[in-house]
Amino acid sequence: MQHATPWAESFSTLVNSRRSTRDFLPDAIPQSVLDAVLADANASPSWSNTQPYRIAIASGALRDRLQAELTQLFDAGMAAQRGGWWGKLKLLLGRKGLPDGDFVTNFEYPSDLQPRRRATGHGLYALLGIGRKDTAAREAQMRRNFEFFGAPTAIFVFVHSGLREFSVLDAGIWLQTLMLSAHAHGLATCAQGALATWAGPLREAYEIPPDYKLICGVSLGYASSHPVNQFNPGRADVAESQIPQKLSIQ
Ligand SMILES: Cc1cc2nc3c(=O)[nH]c(=O)nc-3n(C[C@H](O)[C@H](O)[C@H](O)COP(=O)(O)O)c2cc1C
Repeated sequence: MQHATPWAESFSTLVNSRRSTRDFLPDAIPQSVLDAVLADANASPSWSNTQPYRIAIASGALRDRLQAELTQLFDAGMAAQRGGWWGKLKLLLGRKGLPDGDFVTNFEYPSDLQPRRRATGHGLYALLGIGRKDTAAREAQMRRNFEFFGAPTAIFVFVHSGLREFSVLDAGIWLQTLMLSAHAHGLATCAQGALATWAGPLREAYEIPPDYKLICGVSLGYASSHPVNQFNPGRADVAESQIPQKLSIQ
């Protein structure tokens, strides 16, 4: 029997103390720290070691440009929604603000997952003092996604479409390794599906190979002391995640 390694406890502490950060200090990440975190993420396992993902890193002026473009798209999309059917028609005709991502990010949640999604949203808004009907404040908070929550660096993750769902699975493993390594290095992160809504600004900024599709982004930097960073939505019990056994064989 293998015995636990000396890292078991530290690993558990690391995993359980990571939280999504939604307010960052503007301080830049030293290149050596970013390099170390990326090297750790690169050590992730993948399907036949194909490593079927590519990343685009944005900091400095490019990050600022992407923030400006993405927030403009967000504002245009929101204005269209507020404008009722006429706004939506204008959105369809003008296309400015119409999501052009490779994957749909705004979909109806399956009924069994909706309660968890709702609880997470409500918990976050309650912590921020945003009421259920305060759509303006909710919108402003959603907009923060496209400001990378103030983080100095954003990483966009692209997956190879030829490996189907498995490239997405591999990218998820990469992302978790990145987030844990970042956390171990004193950095904070927020994985953001929202950052896959618009791909246009990224296609202009980077030479993205044709088979690679934008799956999500992650903001990286140093956490501020804003209370939003204390948000911990908790988890279902391990037992709840388990599929009950049908056969009575042990
Ligand atoms: C793939 C993925 C996409 C996510 N997208 C967003 C997002 O667009 N905006 C956001 O604020 N949080 C996003 N999150 C963060 C989740 O809401 C968060 O991980 C979850 O509520 C659990 O909280 P914790 O990370 O603090 O443990 C995302 C997380 C993952 C893994």
